Amino acid sequence: MSDSLTGLLAAAFAARAELMTRLSAEQTDAYRLFHGSVEGRPGLTVDRYGDLILVQTFHRPLTANDLAVLEAFYAEALPGLVTVYNDRSQDNSRIANPLEGERKVAAHAPRLIHELAVAYHFQARHAGQDPWLFLDLRAGRRRVMQEAADKSVLNLFAYTCGVGIAAAKAGARFVVNVDFAESSLKVGKDNARLNDLPIRPRFIQSDVFPALRQFAGLGQPEVVRRKRLPPFPKLEPQQFDLVFLDPPRYAKSPFGVVDLVNDYPALFKPALLSTAEGGKLICCNNVAEVAREAWLDQLQRSARKAGREIRESEWIVPEADFPSADGKPPLKMALLRV
Ligand SMILES: C[S@@+](CC[C@H](N)C(=O)[O-])C[C@H]1O[C@@H](n2cnc3c(N)ncnc32)[C@H](O)[C@@H]1O
Repeated sequence: MSDSLTGLLAAAFAARAELMTRLSAEQTDAYRLFHGSVEGRPGLTVDRYGDLILVQTFHRPLTANDLAVLEAFYAEALPGLVTVYNDRSQDNSRIANPLEGERKVAAHAPRLIHELAVAYHFQARHAGQDPWLFLDLRAGRRRVMQEAADKSVLNLFAYTCGVGIAAAKAGARFVVNVDFAESSLKVGKDNARLNDLPIRPRFIQSDVFPALRQFAGLGQPEVVRRKRLPPFPKLEPQQFDLVFLDPPRYAKSPFGVVDLVNDYPALFKPALLSTAEGGKLICCNNVAEVAREAWLDQLQRSARKAGREIRESEWIVPEADFPSADGKPPLKMALLRV
């Protein structure tokens, strides 16, 4: 078993040799080293985040022996990096395994990582579950950096604002990040301070629904069915040159339901209406069961209903550290010219 794990890790590492050289030349030191079932171990991922290797399990915990095999492999393949293991195989993806001693210190130590010459804060363990930078979204951030110069950019479900920081670094004229999680926006603000940004991005702590409806000019009532909604920041209608929409799979709030399987249009329509005529909207859907063509058809129909046209569409695909067996990666990113 352990021998075979070493073999799988070695094959995945060898498959990334060229990519790692390219990423290093682009000042990127955060990438996936092992990608679960596609590379032979369902539910196991290994990521490099700067000088740390983050091992995560999502189906069942690693045995002590497998963890030792992993540590030994990367100690040789990438010497000098510290390995931290987060077992997320239990309910709600909560990190279950306790760490002790040096590992605990290493896991909670603040670090810097780099992607496309942009610096980001990183901590292997923090109050939340997910790493502060989602690595499969690098292709999206790369594209945003190519598109952003002189543009106004709206980053929805911004989390730690990676997309917004990348846009600002690449010369966006104006960047707005929207998320309701104060703690995530705080990391985003720290990330903004960390980089020598030519502008000051804006951070709006708000539910995305009222923010989008206001930007789109649809308005957000304060009372619905005789129930007063929680307060929300008041915003003027505004359209952006580039809008990035990357919602979670499912989330319910007093303002609406984020449901990427059953109701993408609930977000897509106001996001489209917040995109300037001649602008671009990048939509993401990370639900594996949603087939990309069916999803794009749904976006087309929804755009027609909203009285807007999708002039062209293009797929942005995750980079080679996120291989997919069937050419259908779970994360779908559609760039729409509207
Ligand atoms: C999967 S993350 C998005 C990742 C992000 N786009 C990135 O570039 O890393 C989901 C984010 O959506 C936020 N969120 C979920 N529902 C929300 C809502 N109704 N309004 C605002 N933010 C919401 C969460 O706080 C979380 O930061």
